[in-house]
Parts: sequence; C-alpha cells; structure tokens
Amino acid sequence: NFCDSVLRMKIILAAPRGFCAGVNMAITSLDLTLERFGPPVYVYHEIVHNQYVVNSFRDRGAVFVEQIDEVPEGSVLLFSAHGVSPEVRQAAKARNLNAIDATCPLVTKVHLEAIKYAKAGYTIILIGHDGHDEVIGTMGEAPEAILLVEDEDGVDTLEVADESKLAYLTQTTLSVDDANRIITRLRKRFPGIASPPKDDICYATQNRQEAVRILSDDADTVVVVGSQNSSNSQRLKELAAESGQKAFLIDSPDDLDQADFSKGDTVLLTAGASAPESLVQETITWLVDLFDATVEVKQIREESVQFPLPKSLRVLNN
Ligand code: F3S
Repeated sequence: NFCDSVLRMKIILAAPRGFCAGVNMAITSLDLTLERFGPPVYVYHEIVHNQYVVNSFRDRGAVFVEQIDEVPEGSVLLFSAHGVSPEVRQAAKARNLNAIDATCPLVTKVHLEAIKYAKAGYTIILIGHDGHDEVIGTMGEAPEAILLVEDEDGVDTLEVADESKLAYLTQTTLSVDDANRIITRLRKRFPGIASPPKDDICYATQNRQEAVRILSDDADTVVVVGSQNSSNSQRLKELAAESGQKAFLIDSPDDLDQADFSKGDTVLLTAGASAPESLVQETITWLVDLFDATVEVKQIREESVQFPLPKSLRVLNN
C-alpha cells in the first residue's frame, strides 16, 4: 500500500525528561549502600516512585518497609527521596538504626519552611495530595500548624483562627496550573497570606510540564513513561489529556496497545522524574519496530542541577 510505505510515525522526544537530581541522588545512595554494607538494606517507603527501580533494588536485597518497627534493630535504613517526619527519624534512632537520609534537598527546603512558619506562630496551608509520602513527611514537621488543601474547593472550607498569620507551601510535584489556581483562590480569600520567596514546585517538575505544554500541540498522542503512583508523572499525563491529546502513562511498552497508534501519528514521548531512560529507549524501540518511527529530540531547557550524596555516604565514598 502506497500510504503505508511513505507514512512513518514521528516521535518527538521531549527534553528534559526522566531522572531529576533528587532521584539520581537517592538511587545512587541506595546503590552505594547496598555495595558497601551488603544486603539486606532497609528502605523506608519506595526509594523513588517507580516500579522498575524498586523491583531492581528488591532483587539486589533492598527491603522496602512502611513502618520503622518492621526493621530489625541495628540495621541500615535509607529514608526515601520523599522525606520523612521527625517522628520517623526518632523511631529509627530509638531502634538503633544506621539511618541514611536520601531525602531530596528540595523536599527538605519545604520542611524547613514549614518549621520556620510554625515556629513564628503561623498556620500553614499545605497544597498537596492527601496520603502522598512527601505530604505525610512535611505535615509531620508541624502537625498542629498545618492544614492540607487538595483543590480550589478545599480553600473555601478552611477554618483558620488568625488570618493575619497565615502562609502556604506546596508539594514539590504538583501541576503548576492547578497550584496556581489554588493559590489564586487562597489569595482572594486571605489577601495577606505569606509564601516562601521561591516556588516549592521543583525545577524538574516545572521543566517536564513546560516541555509537555510546549511540545504536545504538535502531537496526536502523548506517552509518559512513569509509574501510576508517581505524582509528577501523573501530572504530565493529565496535562496532555487536558489539552485534548490521547495520553498514556506507562511503566514500559508492555502497557501499550498497538491499536492505539498508527503510522501517520506524531507521538510526544516523555518520562516522569523517577522513570529510567532505559524504559524510554525500550518504548522508542517498540514504536520504531511497529510503526517505522523516526525520532526527533526537542530540548526546551537545559538542566544541570546535581545534589551531593548524604554526608554519611560521602565519607564512605572517599
Ligand atoms: Fe526532588 Fe523534584 Fe526530583 S523535589 S526528587 S528534584 S522531582
């Protein structure tokens, strides 16, 4: 057929995509800990929200736990990139665990803001997703002072004692658009509300969303590589769906259905901050094999952020 022979799928490969500096640091930390201490190494929560990464580490002897009392006394324990509450740190200490903190510094920044505002007597509105590991950790810094808001309607039902001492913070991996809508509503209801000088939504979240926003106009379909429990990956898929594209969030090409694509398509391919590049490459191979796809990289921003390893590991690494 003539059409089939000339039609080739086009893949627009978004950049930046995939691993952020915090995920890189957390994965390198667990890698090094396994290497130096040998298995089992315990990890509080999934090291990063990616099935493939978690399963690979599990195969190497990492044990992922949800409770500190699941960890035998005296063991090595890593805190995941999403951060933990002081209560968890305390519990690890009480159990005599060798705790290594792989919290992303940009999450720690939000914790420090929470502590600062709480100390100054402020009520803090945290914009975030209920039950997310990061939100649980941040709220644990000042449980008495923090109220969680998930959407615009949540702003209307807030009950605040002293409106003159009010601040807001956000989870690092939110949709920039959703967060802005909620912040606008907050400012309308509480014109004097304080906020940190710099955004809490991190550079990696912002850049990956910006790339999808800019590049998805030219695509029929958007494929995001990332796990279902990855907040920033979910937001990328939503963003594409909102602008009318067919959008898929996949762990690997095994989750794709050939029937959803055709040779004439332009596919925007990106990956959440916790998704390994190897899975992006597997997805490209799948599309190339089935639809004779060509690949064009579109870089909308440079990223050069890097975070140091946790101090206890830096010492070991020397
Ligand atoms: Fe940190 Fe943002 Fe990555 S908060 S872990 S740099 S997604």
